[in-house]
Amino acid sequence: MKRHAKKEWFEDESFWSDLYPFMFPEERFAAAVEQMDKLLQLVKPNGTAVLDLCCGPGRCAIPLARLGFRVAGVDRTRFLLNKARARARTAKVRIEWVLEDMRDFLRPESFHLALSMFTSFGYFDDKKEDVRVLKNILTNLKPGGACVIDVMGKERIAKILLSTTSNVLPDGTMLVQRHEIFDDWTRIRNEWTLIRKGRATTRKFHHTLYSGQELRDRMEWGWIPKGEALREPRWRRVRSGHSKADRGGAETRETRRAMRETPRARKGRRDRLGSSAEAQASRERPGISPRFRPCNPAEILTATGSTSAKRGKGRISLSC
Ligand SMILES: C[S@@+](CC[C@H](N)C(=O)[O-])C[C@H]1O[C@@H](n2cnc3c(N)ncnc32)[C@H](O)[C@@H]1O
Repeated sequence: MKRHAKKEWFEDESFWSDLYPFMFPEERFAAAVEQMDKLLQLVKPNGTAVLDLCCGPGRCAIPLARLGFRVAGVDRTRFLLNKARARARTAKVRIEWVLEDMRDFLRPESFHLALSMFTSFGYFDDKKEDVRVLKNILTNLKPGGACVIDVMGKERIAKILLSTTSNVLPDGTMLVQRHEIFDDWTRIRNEWTLIRKGRATTRKFHHTLYSGQELRDRMEWGWIPKGEALREPRWRRVRSGHSKADRGGAETRETRRAMRETPRARKGRRDRLGSSAEAQASRERPGISPRFRPCNPAEILTATGSTSAKRGKGRISLSC
């Protein structure tokens, strides 16, 4: 696996192995089965190839494979992938497990559906890396593909946040969670203390919080940041509705033309494009195809809101 310059909390395998029983109790695996049913009703993927990015122990990948989807589960934690492999063997399903960082996993135009479930997004200290992950997802999707990102939204957190909570787990371990918002309400720092037989262990982690709108923005324009759109060759992939050859050719010409044209020529081209919503979108952000336009989060919350009794309502799932 490629090394990244800075070592961050999620790269510590012992973080995941120590917290595994508390993060992934059996009920959470059971909840994923229902969650996947609802997700499929919501998204109606146009094919069977699914990318489960940051798949962990296969909570979502395995039920999807059982339903007949061809799933690739990508995760950077060897410990969790081994758990996933073992569970898939027990479930007698075939899944491709890939040990890779979400910043590096690229398999262009390979998936009809890409998932990032259970707050697996927003982990990087450098927020540009989150955008890079979104770009990778976009690159990996086939034309017309869909993406679901499931995170606890900032709006919900603002409403329910308690600085300290505690609960006793079935094996008698006490879990004390402390949360602190920092960096101008852009990030959350979490501290989990496990107290077992008089011994306490503390684990800390933090991540970026996105509101529905912020995530939407990054998907709409973050996938193709202004200025970068014209320089980055990958943006050409975004357009749909043409064959691969057409798409590459037409958009290369369009990119070149956009780079050369004067403001007057641009205005003329815009006038010729007309005023349909699609034309408008392509004028504002030449690389974004309507198929990546986010759905109304409220609508999606309704569709997926009851996926887990405790946290379902707070999760924002954006399907684009
Ligand atoms: C909270 S778990 C969610 C697991 C799974 N999506 C689920 O729904 O159960 C977050 C997952 O992200 C993975 N992860 C964290 N950082 C990653 C990275 N940079 N690249 C790939 N996977 C990463 C962890 O190993 C872990 O499996």
